[in-house]
Amino acid sequence: MRRVLVVGGCGFVGSSVTLALAERRPDWQLIAFDSLRRRGSELNLRRLREAGVRFVHGDVREPEDLRALEPVDAILECSAEPSVLAGYGSSPDYAVRTNLLGAFHCLELARRDDAQFIFLSTSRVYPIDPLLELRLRSEESRFELEEEQPVEGASQRGISERFPLAGARSIYGATKLSAELLITEYAAAYGLETVVDRCGVIAGPWQMGKVDQGVFTHWVLSHLFGRELSYIGFGGEGRQVRDLLHVADLADLLELQLSDPAQWAGCVLNVGGGRPGSLSLRETTELCRELTGRQVPVSAELTDRPADVPIYLSDCTELFARTDWRPSRTPRDIVADIVTWASRHEGTLREAL
Ligand SMILES: NC(=O)c1ccc[n+]([C@@H]2O[C@H](COP(=O)([O-])OP(=O)(O)OC[C@H]3O[C@@H](n4cnc5c(N)ncnc54)[C@H](O)[C@@H]3O)[C@@H](O)[C@H]2O)c1
Repeated sequence: MRRVLVVGGCGFVGSSVTLALAERRPDWQLIAFDSLRRRGSELNLRRLREAGVRFVHGDVREPEDLRALEPVDAILECSAEPSVLAGYGSSPDYAVRTNLLGAFHCLELARRDDAQFIFLSTSRVYPIDPLLELRLRSEESRFELEEEQPVEGASQRGISERFPLAGARSIYGATKLSAELLITEYAAAYGLETVVDRCGVIAGPWQMGKVDQGVFTHWVLSHLFGRELSYIGFGGEGRQVRDLLHVADLADLLELQLSDPAQWAGCVLNVGGGRPGSLSLRETTELCRELTGRQVPVSAELTDRPADVPIYLSDCTELFARTDWRPSRTPRDIVADIVTWASRHEGTLREAL
């Protein structure tokens, strides 16, 4: 029996992936480890229990909490302070200790058990200034990338792994890139089988969306709850674009990676919806209005937010060269799934968030 530890297993990604694996891999023993720091993560406890997943309450900042676990075969590290605004206007202490030291403590557990290690990293490892230098054109509802770009690794398809890494990227992005560097060293020094998935925006049901993290869920919930929204920065017109990946598609990919550690060992890959799986905020508003049948006022805030970029698209050419896996849900499917889920749980979500 393969024993898989999902760190951050009550979070959005952690719980969604764990529940998908519990259904498809009854031969695997799944352990969800989480401190329940994220508001709403406690709502996943019952779902995990009902699926037969063991929950361990613990904190990745405390190595003892992880050392107390029985040996595992694989670790999926999904715990984090995932907001890109973490550390702006406040101390970076929590983000550094959870994202970087926490990953280090998980790596130490992987070294102890010679376990496969899969890290949920982020497109935020790419530095901000070169992303701001990209050549854009402004179309009716969104920004688009021009084919010819002044920076290596950038094209109309988006950002590839060849994009330069020099420069500031946010405290959040720096904690994740630092963890990636450690992972590479653990693979080289101790022969660990590791995978780094640099994800664009991940979205879907059970994301406890807020303004600085989980923006697509935040948009849907605001429509359902009648809360005013704001297009922040880049002219205040909502043309900023992100690619988004349904968490169920991500779960499919992670299952493949967990099932064949040797094939994926050493990979550092961009993972996302790419150009076909992208939305601007303006387009998201239109979709939300159509799918919820509700309309809320959207104001314009002209000041850019720290660490914000007008467009990010994952160029997944390297990933697609390794596997037949492809994102199978469109942005419309994703928003529709969020609307269905949020409408069904409106009362609970209003209370929890
Ligand atoms: N959601 C996205 O769009 C996205 C995009 C790219 C990368 N990621 C990465 O994916 C991973 C999962 O993100 P998510 O969206 O599920 O976030 P989330 O906030 O929903 O989940 C993170 C979980 O970690 C837990 N946690 C926080 N601090 C902890 C600590 N000190 N000890 C133990 N548990 C702790 C939280 O309680 C939460 O359940 C993160 O590493 C994030 O950086 C997410």
